[in-house]
Amino acid sequence: MPDQLTKSTIGLDGVPAAETALSHVDGLKGELIIAGKHVVDLASRSSFESVTARLWSLANSELITEAEVRTQLGQARVQAFARLPDLLTVSGGVSLVAAFRAAIAGLRTEDGISDDATIVGALPVIAAALARRANGDAAVAPDPTLGHAADTLRMLHGRDPNAGEARALDAYLITVSDHGMNASTFAARVVASTQADLFCAVTAGYCALTGPLHGGAPEPVLEMLDTIGTSARIEPWIDDALARGERLMGFGHRIYRVRDPRADVLKTVIETLAVNTTNLPFAAEVEAYARDALKRKYPDRALDTNVEFFTAILLDALAIPRQAFTPIFAVARSTGWTAHAREQQRRGRLLRPSSAYIGEIPA
Ligand code: SDX
Repeated sequence: MPDQLTKSTIGLDGVPAAETALSHVDGLKGELIIAGKHVVDLASRSSFESVTARLWSLANSELITEAEVRTQLGQARVQAFARLPDLLTVSGGVSLVAAFRAAIAGLRTEDGISDDATIVGALPVIAAALARRANGDAAVAPDPTLGHAADTLRMLHGRDPNAGEARALDAYLITVSDHGMNASTFAARVVASTQADLFCAVTAGYCALTGPLHGGAPEPVLEMLDTIGTSARIEPWIDDALARGERLMGFGHRIYRVRDPRADVLKTVIETLAVNTTNLPFAAEVEAYARDALKRKYPDRALDTNVEFFTAILLDALAIPRQAFTPIFAVARSTGWTAHAREQQRRGRLLRPSSAYIGEIPA
């Protein structure tokens, strides 16, 4: 079931780059299937460890259980914490997003756990340590007995999260764990298809994720909400931005021609898990006007809310520093990147598309 075919293939719109059993995005129906389940069912009933186990089992055609994943990720967090001084050597004058990239590149095979678990386990340790260092605080050691989401919040804030907070982040990690052939997953698959190692594939995926058109969108969403500030300023601000040809962060999608199903999943998480945010009613006003304004400007182009709009509000409500939003996105998507890289290496070929030459032809 390839994603919907669209007119142009420059940019690979609608071109299936690989066969995958991991996830499927139906842009016309507004559906996301991850490891054979609808995302709304996984977010409300599963755990990040369970979804990771399902994706890794599919990718490797070898069963790994939720309990084994939970144990391996706990061990990996502990081993990554022990290596933090090495991993955080790049510090002078680079952003948290860039320091995170350098740290991922420094990961290596650890004794006793898979490279997949080493990577997925290490990312929240690195993200939390960098976020705390930016505040002048020391890193907090992981607790391997906790779930991945709960320990991520604990390492970030230096206190145990309450059940609602832990559940909210777990639901977020599940919701964005995998999403078909998005740019960062494609980048990871291209690198994996050359038989380069998993660390290279995930580093490539993270680099692609950091762009504002992809995983770098949540921070600008929050900046947009802050800049608009009041209900009275919503219409003039959005009208002016669109008149200047700017893109509204958190809206539009290459595949979805209707609302991104993950937007409502995360909106429900914010509403039901009682994570305290004053932002939601105001954000809903901004969202409503933005959708109308985009419909007026692009009547034949469905530009609806995407996952990043409510991601920004949820992560802000969990007191995650906004400069750590993209690394926290990577904490979740690293499960998808590792699964896709393994699947590519097991079943795929070298990914080498063609190009349309428009340069000079020698006489
Ligand atoms: C993610 O692919 C994935 O699955 C990604 C993701 C995942 O889980 O991995 O879902 C995560 O990346 C979500 C998207 C996050 N990015 C943003 O919210 C940034 C804002 N969105 C846009 O930049 C845009 O919608 C894209 C990049 C997401 C998709 O753009 P497309 O499909 O390439 O569409 P396009 O650039 O061809 O736009 C068509 C027209 C253009 O107008 P013209 O140049 O023809 O005049 O629509 C306009 C665009 O300018 N447009 C927007 C807009 N999105 C498209 N105009 C204003 N605001 C927007 N958000």
